Amino acid sequence: MKTYQISELSAIDTPVLLPLYEGASIPQEFSQYLTGTEDLDLEAGKLYHILSPKKLLLLGLGKAEELTPKKFRKTIGAAVRSSKKDLCIFIDPAAKDGFSIETAAAEAAFAVGFSQYDFTKVGSQPEEKPEISLISSADITAVCRKAQTAAACVNHARDLGNTPSNIMTPEALAEEAASMAKELHLECEILTNKELEEIGAGAILGVNRGSSHGARLIAVKYEGAPGEDYTALVGKGLTFDAGGYNIKTGTHMDGMKFDMCGAANVLCALELIARNKAKVNVMAVIGATENKIGPDGYTCNDVLTSLSGKTIEITNTDAEGRLVLCDAITWAQKLGAKKIIDMATLTGACVAALGKNYTGAFTNSQDFLQELEKYSQKTGEKLWQLPIDEDFHKQVLESNVADMNNCVIGVGAGSSLAAAFLEEFVDEGVEWIHLDIAGSSDFSEGKPYMAKGATGVLVRTLGEMFQ
Ligand code: BES
Ligand code: MN
Ligand code: ZN
Repeated sequence: MKTYQISELSAIDTPVLLPLYEGASIPQEFSQYLTGTEDLDLEAGKLYHILSPKKLLLLGLGKAEELTPKKFRKTIGAAVRSSKKDLCIFIDPAAKDGFSIETAAAEAAFAVGFSQYDFTKVGSQPEEKPEISLISSADITAVCRKAQTAAACVNHARDLGNTPSNIMTPEALAEEAASMAKELHLECEILTNKELEEIGAGAILGVNRGSSHGARLIAVKYEGAPGEDYTALVGKGLTFDAGGYNIKTGTHMDGMKFDMCGAANVLCALELIARNKAKVNVMAVIGATENKIGPDGYTCNDVLTSLSGKTIEITNTDAEGRLVLCDAITWAQKLGAKKIIDMATLTGACVAALGKNYTGAFTNSQDFLQELEKYSQKTGEKLWQLPIDEDFHKQVLESNVADMNNCVIGVGAGSSLAAAFLEEFVDEGVEWIHLDIAGSSDFSEGKPYMAKGATGVLVRTLGEMFQ
């Protein structure tokens, strides 16, 4: 994507797209090319083709007072995604009070990258996309480059998520982390089954027993503030979740390749943080395995000893995410993390409660969550807090044979119970947020501004938060 100064307009021979508010007139830079265009109503999201010496397209933004950065992004994204031709977008007319040219340019640049993404079919070449450029009276080069980096990292997460599970195995996911770390000169440590046995990570190993693939516990560290505490981004990396012996039935198994989107998103958030050269210390910690059935697959009534030493009675093999995560959370703390944000496609109950557009948020620190919310409001990636309280902990801790169970049956509040389970592994004094992305991780239908499949949700928000 190129950026131009408005003084270069005469040299641009692709059609120019003018995003315009209802009632706005054609910007003076273009008025010479037009006659009599005063009466356009410029309905939001509509494209108007103007025949003139300079090929112009008008894109309706609707009423200025109703436009949010997110609406702007979707409108630009839909126009870009539907375009078969190269385009140059003039940013200035989208600016308004509280929405500077630079912000509009950044949103547009992000929208271009995000909306042009399509998952490349297995075995084929990526499709050529039209070249989109941005033009403005302001110097927008730096903000656009930054926004494009963010879009590229979000798209990287979408790619990892969309890759079929027979290709994106736990081993392949670990390789992805290793090659990212190598490219960005980051420290990377990957534990395989033998090492997981040595350290006693019995929870992730229990889930792994039904799989013919190995388990991997991955840690990638970015150090941008030497001497300061680390925050860990912990991701659930179930490259496929068949349910185990509590096997998923009917349509419930379809889409379970996306059960590693938490892992993909935290890995690519770390990538974004590293590419931004942020002055923070962040590590991504990922527990990767499949949850399948095999002769040695774990079963109900097994008791697993987690890396923390706490024992867990299995009451449902399909509640595997919390088992993988509890060892990953413990490992992050052993690596020195003092703050933790975990991300996981953890519970169907979260989809039932919040639908596809919200991520469920849980915390032991309101301040920490408020900080994250500040950035999620900026990016428009919506969070909604759900409760954890003593009663949920009490139910998690019920077991005659172990310290706790992995699934409380038939009492509702599945998302809160899963969160309470995870909180049992968070050390005193460690601030923690759990993000349940079971709904927001992937869409089964595309939208005018985006391809279907993995969304890369919250990669951008985390990139904004850790600057
Ligand atoms: N990966 C699923 C959660 C999920 C469900 C994600 C639907 C996306 C869409 C998770 O491992 C799971 O199976 N959870 C169970 C928990 C239950 C057994 C306590 C669920 O939600 O049914
Ligand atoms: Mn499951
Ligand atoms: Zn799962």
